Amino acid sequence: MELTNYSKNVVLLVLLIVFPFSIAANSKSPCDFPAVFNFGDSNSDTGGLSAAFGQAGPPAGETYFGAPAGRYCDGRLVIDFIAESLGLPHLSAFLDALGSNFSHGANFATAGSTIRPQNTTLHQSGFSPISLNVQSYEFNDFLHRSQIIRNKGDVFSKLMPKEKHFSQGLYTFDIGQNDLTAGYFNNMSTDQVRAYVPDVINQFKTVIQGIYSRGGRYFWIHNTGPVGCLPYILDRLLITTGQVDKAGCASPFNEVAQYFNAKLKEAVIQLRKDLPLAALTYVDVYSVKYELIYRANKHGFEHPLQACCGHGGKYNFNINHGCGSKIKVKGKEIILGKSCKNPSERINWDGVHFTEAANKWVFEQIVNGLYSDPPLPLNMACHKK
Ligand SMILES: *[C@@H]1O[C@H](CO)[C@@H](O)[C@H](O)[C@H]1NC(C)=O
Ligand SMILES: *[C@@H]1O[C@H](CO)[C@@H](O)[C@H](O)[C@H]1NC(C)=O
Ligand SMILES: *[C@@H]1O[C@H](CO)[C@@H](O)[C@H](O)[C@H]1NC(C)=O
Repeated sequence: MELTNYSKNVVLLVLLIVFPFSIAANSKSPCDFPAVFNFGDSNSDTGGLSAAFGQAGPPAGETYFGAPAGRYCDGRLVIDFIAESLGLPHLSAFLDALGSNFSHGANFATAGSTIRPQNTTLHQSGFSPISLNVQSYEFNDFLHRSQIIRNKGDVFSKLMPKEKHFSQGLYTFDIGQNDLTAGYFNNMSTDQVRAYVPDVINQFKTVIQGIYSRGGRYFWIHNTGPVGCLPYILDRLLITTGQVDKAGCASPFNEVAQYFNAKLKEAVIQLRKDLPLAALTYVDVYSVKYELIYRANKHGFEHPLQACCGHGGKYNFNINHGCGSKIKVKGKEIILGKSCKNPSERINWDGVHFTEAANKWVFEQIVNGLYSDPPLPLNMACHKK
């Protein structure tokens, strides 16, 4: 039966009234991102710091890779689950000269990275010299030279992204936590740390603007997690304040993280105005991680504030004997920083980072857009609403 124009319109009108959201969603097709370019710190480092400063040693990687794999984790990170769900291979670290394949993206993140350059060395402070501005210089180099290399043909064309991948790809960010802890580790007060947050956010915006000016369009931005719930903060800084929240986390540090996140969200809103062709998704990873720690048992986890792999103390964390650390007793080597029995039931891996099981849980919460602004699933993040 042929519908008249009038009856077609009536049908459409009825559908729009009854299913306004499903129609809006169905009218958009999935983004089919051909590549991911990631920027960040250890939360998404897949081998950058390890390539430059020495591998994250065993038992890192044991759960999934069966050996160290450049990640500060027993297995996969959220960025690995992101790549998998988009049907792409795990990202090679830009700094890793060995066996890397950048055909579907590159990872510029390194453990210990901050947004602002820290003016210290890794050995002095523990912060990576590969701050976000440096990651953006690396990206500019990669953007340009990957195409020169690709044009050599043969195997090179199978190792480098196509030029159009830079405009069609997803740019992911997970960075900021170390900018906050850097101040505290320099004995700054919470007020002093808060005071420099706007500068940190401004430098973040500059990097997004730079990538946009080079053709990047789709941005997936994680906010920073509840750093006050991590053993390395609880062990080292809780004594300075003593303020604990309902989950047993150090509240001043979480409040600063939330302040950072509020400013980050404001910046994303401003960037939407400044960069009219960009789709920017802000993802509230903080809330997901806090929920996991606060209601660990409900979600199938235990001992949320204790490191799985570490050595002693209330949080199974000792800054001098970290995960994997060894000592020699009468010429015999003893491993002090051993993994717990069941990393799959634990949230914290080594006092600083999440386990693969926790990363998977976090990924499953964020992939459908429930914690995103705008509320779009990962595979729709090329759309604006
Ligand atoms: C590093 O030094 C520069 C130049 O003195 C300064 O502007 C910047 O704020 C410093 N960075 C940090 C994180 O203190
Ligand atoms: C790089 O990875 C892609 C995707 O997995 C694959 O198709 C390609 O053959 C790889 N390149 C080489 C040289 O192995
Ligand atoms: C911070 O204070 C502690 C205790 O007073 C001191 O040992 C440490 O050297 C200080 N750190 C910095 C970076 O000033």
